[in-house]
Amino acid sequence: TRILVVNGPNLNLLGTRKPEIYGSATLDDVVRVAREAAELHGLEIRDVQSNSEGALIDAIHEARHDCDGIVINAGAYTHTSVAIRDALEAVALPFVEVHISNVHAREEFRHRSYLSDIASCVIAGAGIQGYAFGVHHLARILA
Ligand code: DQA
Repeated sequence: TRILVVNGPNLNLLGTRKPEIYGSATLDDVVRVAREAAELHGLEIRDVQSNSEGALIDAIHEARHDCDGIVINAGAYTHTSVAIRDALEAVALPFVEVHISNVHAREEFRHRSYLSDIASCVIAGAGIQGYAFGVHHLARILA
């Protein structure tokens, strides 16, 4: 059983980008947290980060061949991308929407998500532990 962990635009800058909002952990730390959670359940992780919408969509499409679920932090594309929504709907894998920050306590434009209503689970504001929670959720529903 394999889970694809997808990180969208600007998340490559984690650790230096607005640490008062996103903390000091890096993208490597994010992937480690997800992998450690997966290991507890005997699950594998594949991870991808891209700043481009098309590359994220391609990675989601690829997942339909060999992954069983997706944990995705689509970054700002969460609030704008019908295309990423359509890709997730098309591959029909259960997915968890993760945000490091509590998007609901931030600007109004971050309150809308194109993903939430088709997500299996939505996690916001738990910091990078949110990725572990997402993996635990998928482990439970895939068991
Ligand atoms: C984010 C929240 C988004 O609004 C923002 O554009 C991001 C990161 C988060 O993890 O809190 O890039 O998804």
